[in-house]
Amino acid sequence: MPTVAVLNQKGGVGKTTVTLGLASAAGAAGRRVLVVDMDPQGSASWVLGVDPLGTPDEVTLGDVLAGAHVTDAIRPADTTAGWPDCVDVIPAGDELQGFEAGETGRLAAAFRGGHDVLDSYDAVLIDCPPSLGNLTTNALTAARHALLVVEPSALGLRGIGGVADAIDDVWDSYNPDLELSGVVLNRVPAISNEAERRIAELQRIVGRQAILKPAVPARVILNQAVGERRPIHSYASRAADSIDAFDRLWAKLRRTIKNT
Ligand SMILES: Nc1ncnc2c1ncn2[C@@H]1O[C@H](COP(=O)(O)OP(=O)(O)OP(=O)(O)O)[C@@H](O)[C@H]1O
Ligand SMILES: [Mg+2]
Repeated sequence: MPTVAVLNQKGGVGKTTVTLGLASAAGAAGRRVLVVDMDPQGSASWVLGVDPLGTPDEVTLGDVLAGAHVTDAIRPADTTAGWPDCVDVIPAGDELQGFEAGETGRLAAAFRGGHDVLDSYDAVLIDCPPSLGNLTTNALTAARHALLVVEPSALGLRGIGGVADAIDDVWDSYNPDLELSGVVLNRVPAISNEAERRIAELQRIVGRQAILKPAVPARVILNQAVGERRPIHSYASRAADSIDAFDRLWAKLRRTIKNT
């Protein structure tokens, strides 16, 4: 299954922005992508134009973890806001928070139950919450690839070791197929000695080849896109370098997915 967990225990580093940037790039290339909103905050669902809690009779990710069929929870992203019609989402749902404690294999079991449908996507991107609790462990147990999002600042690098350990633990105990497929550097300023130093430090921690190129630049338009609930590709020339970064990261991720 083309499953990718986008994670970091640290909040606000850009997990959701990177997930949605990749979905925007995939959609612009005509590829089918499913965003699974594993964060009870429901930001990804909201930006994709879907009520994170669903309406009462709608199946959400919370219901899926409780045993509902995964394919019943899939919704199209809002095309009127510019999202391509090949982008779908599973909204977070009210009950998701309750699964922060519980079994770690629920998402994996749900994915296995819907594997024929999930396999028809070019990528299934799981936007994780800012923790290493059970929801992130569920995502890692269900995923083939782990994509770590890091901000090149002193605080941004704190806790990286813990995330690497969590990936190792899941690999060891539940999911021998899991691979750290790369580290996305997000919100990189044009010129900053501090960022340069932190990137060098990160290279020493995770290895130079683990850091995916290009980095995602720090750009107000990326923040604006989230607020306006639109894909970054809909801003065209106003977001040219952000779009280029996500196009190239998507091309790389797609190659990685296809080779496994
Ligand atoms: N490259 C960037 N340039 C400018 N703003 C950015 C960039 N990446 C993220 N942001 C902004 O930073 C904020 C946090 O980003 P985001 O929500 O993607 O982080 P997150 O890791 O998903 O957060 P959480 O841990 O709460 O889920 C948002 O307001 C977003 O618009
Ligand atoms: Mg997020």
